Amino acid sequence: MILISGRGSNMQAIVERCAPARIAAVIGNRAEAAGLRFARERGIPAEVVEHRDFPSRATFEQALSAAIERKRPDLVVLAGFMRVLGEAFVQRYEGRLLNIHPSLLPAFPGLNTHRRALEAGVKVHGCTVHFVTAAVDHGPIVIQAAVPVLAGDTEESLGARVLAQEHRIYPLAVRWFLDGRLAVDRGIVRVRGECEPQFLLAPP
Ligand code: GAR
Repeated sequence: MILISGRGSNMQAIVERCAPARIAAVIGNRAEAAGLRFARERGIPAEVVEHRDFPSRATFEQALSAAIERKRPDLVVLAGFMRVLGEAFVQRYEGRLLNIHPSLLPAFPGLNTHRRALEAGVKVHGCTVHFVTAAVDHGPIVIQAAVPVLAGDTEESLGARVLAQEHRIYPLAVRWFLDGRLAVDRGIVRVRGECEPQFLLAPP
C-alpha cells in the first residue's frame, strides 16, 4: 500500500523495482495527485481520500485507515505523502509504516530541506528511509544515501541529485521489509542475512 500526495516518482520507483511485490493500492490525499494516473495506467487500484473532505485530522485518518484496512496490506509506504499523521494512526501501523525524507536525518526534518541544506553550507546532503513514529521525520533509520553538495548548486540541482538516490534506496528498503529482513532493536535498524550496507554514496 502506497500513500502519495503529488508527483509520485518514489511510488513509481517502488512499483518498477519491487516486483514481484503486489501493490495493494495507491491512495492519494488529493484527487489531482499526478501519481494516481500512473498507478491507474499500471492497473494498480488508485483511490482518493481527500483530507479537505473531513472536518478534522482524526476523521480524515479514520477514513484513511478504513481504506487501508480494506486491502489488508503487509506494509504502508509513505511516498511524498505530505500530511502529518497523528499518534493513533502511527501507533496502529507501528513497525509497518515507512517514510522517505529528503535529508540525512536527523538533520533538516520538515520542509524545504534542500534550501535549508544550501543555507547551512553543508557539504554532504541526502535522503533517509525510516520507520514512522509519532515524532515527525524521526524514527528508526533503515537506509540513507548521501550526495555531495557542489559549488553552484541550486535548490533544484541539489534536489534532483537527492531524488535520484531516493529512487534507489526506497525500493531497497521496501524489499528488505517484505523479505522479513529488517530488525529493530532499541531504535536501531539492522538488515538480517548477508551483509548489505545501509547507506549509499553517490559519486560527485
Ligand atoms: C520526495 O522528495 C520525498 O522525499 C519528499 O517529497 C518528495 C515526493 O516526491 N517527502 C517529504 O518531504 C516528506 N517529509 P515524489 O512524489 O515524486 O515521490
